[in-house]
Amino acid sequence: MWDYTDKVKEHFLNPKNVGKIEDADGVGEVGSLACGDALRLFIKVEDGRIVDARFQTFGCGSAIASSSALTEMVKGKTLDEALQITNKDIADYLGGLPKEKMHCSVMGREALEAAINNYRGIETPDQPLEGEVVCECFGVTDVQIRRAIEENDLKSVEDVTHYTKAGGGCERCLPDIEKILAEVRGAMETRAEREPPGPPARLTNLQRIQKVQQVIDEEIRPSLQADGGDLELVDVDGTKVYVSLRGTCSNCPSSQITLKSGVEARLREVVDPDIQVLEA
Ligand code: FES
Repeated sequence: MWDYTDKVKEHFLNPKNVGKIEDADGVGEVGSLACGDALRLFIKVEDGRIVDARFQTFGCGSAIASSSALTEMVKGKTLDEALQITNKDIADYLGGLPKEKMHCSVMGREALEAAINNYRGIETPDQPLEGEVVCECFGVTDVQIRRAIEENDLKSVEDVTHYTKAGGGCERCLPDIEKILAEVRGAMETRAEREPPGPPARLTNLQRIQKVQQVIDEEIRPSLQADGGDLELVDVDGTKVYVSLRGTCSNCPSSQITLKSGVEARLREVVDPDIQVLEA
């Protein structure tokens, strides 16, 4: 039996946003009933933002929970922000998924890309990604396998099957998956050796937002409040962090210095070296 988090159970038992949007602006479909999982995602877009999202799925509890979580996560986001959501963000939102069920979060991310492509008039090919089909049973390409290995730091063929389903049928493709895995792991290790240690690994968008909020709440605000000032996080758009100064900080002549050499420097140090802090 799978060990599901309370959040997965909550989204599975009481899924949010089930159904279709009749006048959807974008529809994305992934999977097929033959493979056991299929997801259809509908989005409604206004002024470049997703204002509504709904789904229909024919999958297991994790597929329902992942789809439900995804629809909650994308609402209110711009299309570009939504495209930054990774399958790991979906799993993190649910407090984690059993590794055997990670392919459900991958399916969610692919349906989102397909729905946004559909809205933008970009044709999504039958195969969600270009490349050569490696696993005939589940129609998984080498590009999907490489991407899953890189994004999720997968280390075994079994992991690849859990994340992509490739290899979970007749197993004829296992030697090819093993070859791709060795190649991608080799390239990742060479890259890691070349890159100097220091800046932390790149964060997903959701992780970056959570970390920014945490550093602001736990470190920056208390030190500003001690001098009668304050700061509020307004928005995070990629590596741009928008804040609003409050209290004595709002009319302080050196507020820009505080933002750059205090707030921005600290966030670059502990969250992401590319962060830019801007006043909202
Ligand atoms: S070809 Fe991959 S499991 Fe059958």
